[in-house]
Amino acid sequence: MSHFKCDNNSYNSWTPNKKWLSHFAKKTPICFKSYVFFCSKMTLIALNDMPETNTNFWKTSKRPLMMLAPMEDVTDTAFRELVLHNTVAGQLDIIFTEFTSTDGLCHHKGRDNVAQRLFVSETERNLLKEKGVKLVAQIWGNKPEKYYEAVKFIEANYHFDGLDINMGCPVRNVVSHGSCSALIDNESLAAEIIQATREASSLPLSVKTRIGLKRVDTERWMKFLFRQPVDGVILHGRIQKQMSEGEADWDEIAKASAIRDELAPDIPIIGNGDVLTIEDALLKPEKYHTDGVMIGRGIFQNPWMFQSSLSEIDIEKRLNTLLKHLQLYESAWAHIRPFPILKRFFKIYISGFRGAAELRKELMDSNSVEEARKVLLGTMN
Ligand SMILES: Cc1cc2nc3c(=O)[nH]c(=O)nc-3n(C[C@H](O)[C@H](O)[C@H](O)COP(=O)(O)O)c2cc1C
Repeated sequence: MSHFKCDNNSYNSWTPNKKWLSHFAKKTPICFKSYVFFCSKMTLIALNDMPETNTNFWKTSKRPLMMLAPMEDVTDTAFRELVLHNTVAGQLDIIFTEFTSTDGLCHHKGRDNVAQRLFVSETERNLLKEKGVKLVAQIWGNKPEKYYEAVKFIEANYHFDGLDINMGCPVRNVVSHGSCSALIDNESLAAEIIQATREASSLPLSVKTRIGLKRVDTERWMKFLFRQPVDGVILHGRIQKQMSEGEADWDEIAKASAIRDELAPDIPIIGNGDVLTIEDALLKPEKYHTDGVMIGRGIFQNPWMFQSSLSEIDIEKRLNTLLKHLQLYESAWAHIRPFPILKRFFKIYISGFRGAAELRKELMDSNSVEEARKVLLGTMN
């Protein structure tokens, strides 16, 4: 059963029922509550000196909105910074963290490990400001009270521009626990989770989801979602069962957009799935009537896509970009994240020129950032 009282998506008429606040008060250890309180105070003091960035970016009139998708083990602070370096201001609007477990953030032992996913380096922070890009923390889980607690923790310790709830991840072990895309078939829990997140924070809130769980179910699910107190909906045109297979169905995204027009014309809808180039990213919103697009795997084909076409990227730039990525990864994650995670990026930068295959093989055989750097510098000299 949904707990919020809301007429037709108007936040002004929404009255929190404090259910999650009282749960937080009863169940949360006093030391964590004091920590959250202390951090809130410290953050407030720090934030007083910062320019106001917490405006609701979903309300902007800029169209189409261009987003880089959350991708686990890809969109960490190092890769986001790299993309921001290679972005012309105005070409990219919103980027996301990797999905972060609300259970993990509430666990006194697991928290440090899970919270790495929310790490934002100072240099990334500066670039976000310089390029006018917003950064959204993506969270997932299946317990509203954990959302409440985790979001309080995020607000107290970080400075994100928005929150996004993952209702789209198709991976079996999260779905079998009722999280992520399983919420598509559990409206009452989805509503409670949105409600709890809303009550914990005034940050702009979006939901990233799919067009169905086991079958295409766009109409029912969108009619539900566009009645929720959210600021934006990001819709991937596949069902959970498809994982990443087959083609994204943009006609279903257009159908969702028409439902939005009827029920909640003020809530932007962003289409996602198989957008590989900026040209396509500019065409899709017009053709399918969305407010923007989210690009995921397209960034693997051209990490410079928010600046220039791939044909303009010469060998020197490719090698230098990988060198930069190695440096950013090392300074963010030395001894924390394993080196092999980086190997998936080698193909992205090292392709499309004579000798690329041999160089890639050498890089794939390396066992550390230092070794990979030596291989690259050897090639460049
Ligand atoms: C390696 C990888 C990791 C992903 N991790 C996440 C994630 O953490 N959160 C999320 O909402 N979606 C995640 N996704 C899904 C993407 O955000 C996106 O919805 C999907 O790739 C479809 O868009 P595309 O066709 O543009 O790639 C991931 C996708 C990939 C390929």
